[in-house]
Amino acid sequence: MPFHDSSDIEGGVSGPPVMLSRRGVLWFRADAWRLICMARVFAVANQKGGVAKTTSVASLGAALSELGCRVLLVDLDPQACLTFSLGLDPDAIELSVHDVLLGRLSPGLVLRGTEDGPDLLPATIELAGCEAVLLSRTGREHALRLALAEIGDSYDFVLIDCPPSLGILTINGLTAADEVIIPLQCETLSHRGVGQLLDTVHDVQRLTNADLRVRGVLPTLFDARTAHGRAVLVDISARYVVTVLQPPIARSVRFAEAPGSGRSILTTARRSRGAEAYRSHARALVEAESAAGAPQGARSRPGAHGRQEEGGPDAGARVSPPAPPAPPARSPARPLAVTPVVATAVSQVASR
Ligand SMILES: Nc1ncnc2c1ncn2[C@@H]1O[C@H](COP(=O)(O)OP(=O)(O)OP(=O)(O)O)[C@@H](O)[C@H]1O
Ligand SMILES: [Mg+2]
Repeated sequence: MPFHDSSDIEGGVSGPPVMLSRRGVLWFRADAWRLICMARVFAVANQKGGVAKTTSVASLGAALSELGCRVLLVDLDPQACLTFSLGLDPDAIELSVHDVLLGRLSPGLVLRGTEDGPDLLPATIELAGCEAVLLSRTGREHALRLALAEIGDSYDFVLIDCPPSLGILTINGLTAADEVIIPLQCETLSHRGVGQLLDTVHDVQRLTNADLRVRGVLPTLFDARTAHGRAVLVDISARYVVTVLQPPIARSVRFAEAPGSGRSILTTARRSRGAEAYRSHARALVEAESAAGAPQGARSRPGAHGRQEEGGPDAGARVSPPAPPAPPARSPARPLAVTPVVATAVSQVASR
């Protein structure tokens, strides 16, 4: 399909996100892409306690926000540590993720903003009781996935903080996720349980979420002064065929200090090595998303990351393959063929 000069569009480049040109061609403003695409969902899981699941969710979420991504964090742990560490008092919260999982409330009513940037579906201790109720329900594994389907298109990334167990809450997290990140403390015996977690991932792939992928093991609480930590990592990669994500997150007292102020280390120790390490992981997620989106287009959100929005080469690839040639550098919009997917997208955008 040929490209048209944007002067062809009623309302010009600052008009609505989806426009019909005078020549009858449907145009998407480049940043409209972020309005119509589902978030990439990551479950951060390990049934072993204290391996920095919550810290990783809070820090990665803040780092993704810094990059301009729209981020939702989900506290799926009855301990509500993520909720607390992002400055909310779980004891004072009336509406929580528990109400969402039981289908009593839509997630939009429960969402809270945080000072670090991401939105949060907060938890309270009530979530502990939710497990028992869910167990008696049909389709219990899908409760979170269905809830996120309601709001996923408002975000670029969703990060789920799973509890230290392989119960129904973690299964919900894995069922809702595209990928799982496994934080792993770099010390002896930390690998114990990884095999069990991978078995659970395989069960989820078989039964409730065939598309679930393991992004990799995230080494945490790494003590760079010892060879022991490095040996643990080598051991993990040899034992299981999983990617070890780099760089490892170094052990630092800065992490323990951050939750007390209701902010992540990205704010409380901006220039610390720990903050920089999580920034590096956030950049890797964004880059992987952009790269993966180009050929497959299945879940890409090329407009989600600021720098690639304006007429980026990926825009439109999934709606109308093969992708048309790149528009002129300053072109703010590009035309797309009207397909059922586009028609659905238009109705979603129109309803906003
Ligand atoms: N890189 C680090 N260096 C030092 N302390 C850390 C680091 N990462 C996390 N911590 C601290 O380790 C403790 C456990 O971290 P966190 O709560 O994130 O683990 P978790 O896996 O979520 O635990 P749980 O399984 O109980 O949910 C916290 O006190 C946290 O501040
Ligand atoms: Mg935790």
